[in-house]
Amino acid sequence: MGLKTNEEKDVLVEPEDDVFYYGKCVWSCRGQRISLIPILTIIAIVILSVSFFLYTVVFLDELLSKPFNSACEISTQPQCDNIPESQRFDCFPETYLVTKEKCEARGCCWWPFLSRPEMLGKVPWCFYSRDYQGYIVDSLNQTATGMTAMLSRSTKSSWPNDIMTLQLDVNFESNERLHFKIYDPHNSRYEVPLKLFPASEPVGAPDYDVSIAKQGPFSITVTRKSTGQKLFETAGTSPLIFADQFIQISTVLSSPFVYGLGEHRGSFLIDTNWTKLVLWNVDHPPERNVNLYGFHPFYLNVEGDGKAHGVFLLNSNAMAVEVQPFPALTYRTTGGILDFYVFMGPSSDNVIQQYTGLIGRSFMPPFWALGFHLCRWGYQSSERTKEIIDRNRAANMPYDTQWNDIDYMDRHLDWTYDHDHYSSLMEVVQDLHNHGQHYVMIVDPGISIEQTPGSYQPYDEGIRDNVFVKDYNGSLIVGVVWPGKTVFPDWTHPNVSDYWFRQASRFRQQIPYDGLWIDMNEPSNFVDGSTIGCIGNDLDDPPFVPVGIVGGKLTAKTLCPSAKQYLSYHYNLHAMYGYGEMVASMSALKKILQKRSIVISRSTFPGSGVHGGHWTGDNKATWDDLMYSVSGIMNFQLFGIPLVGADICGFSGDTTPELCARWMQLGAFYPFMRNHNDLTAKDQDPAAFDSKTQDIIREALNLRYTLLPFLYYLFFRSHVDGSPVVRPVFFQYPVSDYNATLTVDIQFMWGSCLLITPAISQDETVGLGYLPKDTWYDFFTHEQNQSSGQWINFDTPAERINLKVRGGSIFPVMEPNVTTTLMRKNPLFGLFVALATDGTASGELYWDDGDQLDAYESGMYNHVSFSVQKNTLQSIVVKSGYISPEGMPLNRVTVLGVSSAPQSVVINKKKANYRYDLGSQTIYIDGGKMSLLSPITIGW
Ligand SMILES: *[C@@H]1O[C@H](CO)[C@@H](O)[C@H](O)[C@H]1NC(C)=O
Ligand SMILES: *[C@@H]1O[C@H](CO)[C@@H](O)[C@H](O)[C@H]1NC(C)=O
Ligand SMILES: *[C@@H]1O[C@H](CO)[C@@H](O)[C@H](O)[C@H]1NC(C)=O
Ligand SMILES: *[C@@H]1O[C@H](CO)[C@@H](O)[C@H](O)[C@H]1NC(C)=O
Ligand SMILES: *[C@@H]1O[C@H](CO)[C@@H](O)[C@H](O)[C@H]1NC(C)=O
Ligand SMILES: *[C@@H]1O[C@H](CO)[C@@H](O)[C@H](O)[C@H]1NC(C)=O
Repeated sequence: MGLKTNEEKDVLVEPEDDVFYYGKCVWSCRGQRISLIPILTIIAIVILSVSFFLYTVVFLDELLSKPFNSACEISTQPQCDNIPESQRFDCFPETYLVTKEKCEARGCCWWPFLSRPEMLGKVPWCFYSRDYQGYIVDSLNQTATGMTAMLSRSTKSSWPNDIMTLQLDVNFESNERLHFKIYDPHNSRYEVPLKLFPASEPVGAPDYDVSIAKQGPFSITVTRKSTGQKLFETAGTSPLIFADQFIQISTVLSSPFVYGLGEHRGSFLIDTNWTKLVLWNVDHPPERNVNLYGFHPFYLNVEGDGKAHGVFLLNSNAMAVEVQPFPALTYRTTGGILDFYVFMGPSSDNVIQQYTGLIGRSFMPPFWALGFHLCRWGYQSSERTKEIIDRNRAANMPYDTQWNDIDYMDRHLDWTYDHDHYSSLMEVVQDLHNHGQHYVMIVDPGISIEQTPGSYQPYDEGIRDNVFVKDYNGSLIVGVVWPGKTVFPDWTHPNVSDYWFRQASRFRQQIPYDGLWIDMNEPSNFVDGSTIGCIGNDLDDPPFVPVGIVGGKLTAKTLCPSAKQYLSYHYNLHAMYGYGEMVASMSALKKILQKRSIVISRSTFPGSGVHGGHWTGDNKATWDDLMYSVSGIMNFQLFGIPLVGADICGFSGDTTPELCARWMQLGAFYPFMRNHNDLTAKDQDPAAFDSKTQDIIREALNLRYTLLPFLYYLFFRSHVDGSPVVRPVFFQYPVSDYNATLTVDIQFMWGSCLLITPAISQDETVGLGYLPKDTWYDFFTHEQNQSSGQWINFDTPAERINLKVRGGSIFPVMEPNVTTTLMRKNPLFGLFVALATDGTASGELYWDDGDQLDAYESGMYNHVSFSVQKNTLQSIVVKSGYISPEGMPLNRVTVLGVSSAPQSVVINKKKANYRYDLGSQTIYIDGGKMSLLSPITIGW
């Protein structure tokens, strides 16, 4: 039962009942689903609505007894009256093709309005009435840590196989974490096999209250006690539906400020104007209004007063989430159970800390992984790869890691390399290592079945170990990916971890790589379902498929949902496929390298951040893609996967020198910084450009490398307490005039210190941005700006990004070099101090050997905190557990906001060398190479 492995942290799943229950499909109303293309422009809207109308009237008139009347009449029952549009909850979410008859047969209200085509696909025409018959509470009992209730319904919903009796368990897990779960008490159903972490503190006096309506339709309300704010409120929304393959629940939102629910492209703030989000992992380039690579049913909701809470639905089935203006949010999922966690905050940071406290804290990347990564698909040879490496070295570009895409492989076969075109790959990697650089290559999950038996171990051993996904009939399910026909490892199989380790380890004896890039793991398949299609049962073709899903069906570009994995059907486990590969890959790397490493995955699920990072997929070389990358990166901070970046300069299409330079400037502030290009586009590695562009790019890279100790510290915080690395501006400034910070999504922060305002359009020299109410300094000129919280023009000269430092910050910096390895060999630390108006500042430093496994857990690290008061900086060595041969010398201290020249500067009672610049009100202090591992006092 379940997957039990050794003591390593490679346990994908906890043992679970592997009893999976599915009702028989009796729903006969299939095949009428059409997926209207998302309505993007008024013209499209008009065209669509006209064709919709014609379609309805002309082609479907056999479905409509009275087509015209049906489209014009409205329901006249009193329980349908006066339901404001914003409070209409869709009763027919599986299609837009509804008729009055079908709608009313569901006991719902019919209120079409062909006169407002712009609202087509938004305000539902068929919605729940006030007296819709659903579940009622039969009994409700208090328990030691919450309560439990039995629910039942007496009438059937319109969905096949209602679960007529349900149990609700409410569990107060800690002051910060509330858990409630609605499930079938009589038949065990699929539950997500994710390793969860217990709450750290027992319940004392939580700030939440839970109430269950004892009379009338079932409802649950979660309230923040201290403010009376309702955080989760199902009353007044759509009824709870719990059928075998359709589960629906809605909640009123505390405000329209809702974020998360990925993976999607769009503004960071989710538009409550009837946004439909589909969650189902698919290989599709980032576009608005479609499902993408990852699956993250978590949202953050900022309450009116700046407090925030989070809600996580632990469910991995294909899901649609609809957000409407009430504001309210509806989940519609195709299986599993309702397993909710509410995180109380009250700050947004707290919410993410609490969420990652449940799903697992992010892994600590090695220091080198924070350097610059360079990649492209289509170097086509190791010689060309080497030329690119050499020319970027010659151009003095700070640069840590070279990657290869699928062209390094022998006929795209996993765990091989092309001995014709990449014959010198080993030498290339050796040369990278000799230069203190690293090498990462791509691996896909699909394993070729077309090789001569005995000639390809990844296939032969997989067969022997029985690790590949099976079809519904129990034969191997075969898809088509880059190498042709392939099978797919089942990451829930008890043999898979060893199997994957063996492949990775054998290949590393040929090519000593340093990390793994795992792509195509939604999983992607060039044929829908399999080479012979799918069996077409109610798993492949369920009664509810989210409208707008890529390809219009669950089988599109992936494996059949009816395929069998060890723990359950692919139908249930699809969303976790990439996650499972991350677990196996990181576990293999730890065993092989005995060092920290990276796994960068395209497909992700909650908990992925424990095992690796993410890049936002196959973007394009456009300004729009540059702009949307910021909300993409912020979203993954919410999802507990801080190591994230977009393909800098754009993956597909030709970039331009200006776009690429701007993107390198912005990318220097991605937690994961990789420039990646596709097969046919023009070269876009830094050295490919003219010398002026190269200068801009080199400056951006040097800036990142200078700031790396600070970035490393932010990763340490994320690893230890779950704070995001990149922070949306409202995390620091939750309250602002006109809720301005809640909408900012072009700008972002690094920790609490840096405000980054990228240029996002061509020829831009000033860009509109928000400067929160605080004291700010320009990082480069040190110019001070006392903001009252305003939208202002930010200078964005071509040469560099706009970077502001919050008054009150101290962060560590270091003299940059062309690799992190060289920086660490001669580590010249600096402190950047920006005084608040009251003359104070504070900050911290984390340091370890850079790639030792569990450096923090085993206490092999240094942690120093700094504070300034009354013209004196003082350090406290919180922990000194890592004594490096190079030491930790303090090279310089830069103090901003010093309005008059100091008489002298003293470090640990000795006079220090310094320079004061009146114009920028800055003191530059020579740190005298004092060791940061002893307390330091600097006075001026
Ligand atoms: C909602 O969207 C519709 C159609 O795009 C638009 O006409 C309407 O103005 C929007 N409403 C709000 C409040 O933004
Ligand atoms: C609540 O308690 C009553 C009486 O002890 C019992 O009959 C019922 O089954 C309990 N309900 C739940 C949900 O535990
Ligand atoms: C694991 O692999 C071994 C052979 O290596 C095989 O005998 C065994 O049946 C496999 N386990 C499962 C659960 O398939
Ligand atoms: C499963 O077996 C049935 C009956 O032999 C066959 O018709 C069907 O094509 C098979 N389906 C798959 C997906 O292998
Ligand atoms: C800010 O948002 C809150 C919550 O929705 C709303 O009540 C308030 O009116 C908004 N304030 C402004 C100035 O828009
Ligand atoms: C980089 O490190 C090397 C070796 O320590 C040193 O010689 C060189 O001056 C450094 N370069 C810069 C730009 O600091």
